[in-house]
Amino acid sequence: MGYVDYAAEGHVGIITINRPKALNALNEDVLRDIETAFDAVDCSEIRAVIVTGAGEKSFVAGADIAAMSTMTKEQGEHFGKFGNDIFRKIETFPVPVIAAVNGFALGGGNELAMCCDIRICSENAVFGQPEAGLGITPGFGGTQRLARLIGPGKAKEMVYGARNIKADEAYRVGLVNAVYPQEELMAAAMKLAQTIAKNAPIAVRNCKKAINEGLEVEMDRAIEIEEKLFGDCFETQDQKDGMTAFLEKRKVEAFHNR
Ligand code: CAA
Repeated sequence: MGYVDYAAEGHVGIITINRPKALNALNEDVLRDIETAFDAVDCSEIRAVIVTGAGEKSFVAGADIAAMSTMTKEQGEHFGKFGNDIFRKIETFPVPVIAAVNGFALGGGNELAMCCDIRICSENAVFGQPEAGLGITPGFGGTQRLARLIGPGKAKEMVYGARNIKADEAYRVGLVNAVYPQEELMAAAMKLAQTIAKNAPIAVRNCKKAINEGLEVEMDRAIEIEEKLFGDCFETQDQKDGMTAFLEKRKVEAFHNR
């Protein structure tokens, strides 16, 4: 993969978007490489994935403006679908995905962060949807996920005004869970990923599915989704190991993902 690096550390996968000359902007090749990286994650071993950007300046500075500048209506729609399909795949990826936002997260960059389960960032991070200032709408889910995450009023203020916000405001409005000095960001992301990876992997996956799928339907249906996924856990060895350890007043040594 030319624009994306992948590394595994224990049960944690790390995907790094690596196109620093263009502040990691997303053209079709970069998007394709991100998809390939996710496809390559072995979810029988990996229990959480971290997505970050190469360098200390930018997570992702958006979709590639040079590539978009000459697009027709049909090409624009195709590009939107191309990005949206990949971001939806990340959103529904079986294991939790953490965005470690190490700088600019603008346009497609903010949209990439928002399709991850959890966002943390460095103090120099900047978030925004500058598209209206370029004559377009957000195109990789920004009009939908931003409003769901921080509420329609604040999202509309940011999107209509093409107003970027800094890390402290992103924290205040709930766009990120925590802010760290740049040099501590990856260690914090790794600690969070390892905390998740210590728990029963099938249960964690079912939690992700229950929260995500439940949010898309009304409460009666949402509760049924939870009941089914809750029940499924009782067929796992990890449930037996976890509960036996509790009853024997000891910590479970390790969950085996089965
Ligand atoms: N697309 C293409 N190239 C980009 C880019 C982008 N989104 N963002 C930055 N770059 C390139 C610059 O053109 C520049 O390249 P050259 O050195 O070849 O000139 C290089 O990255 C460095 O950028 P700057 O010199 O501009 O760096 P800076 O520190 O002065 O500014 C910045 C940083 C504020 C992030 C500025 O680069 C910027 O405003 N970038 C565009 C941000 C943006 O509008 N993103 C939204 C894109 S639209 C979108 O994403 C649509 C969608 O929803 C799908």
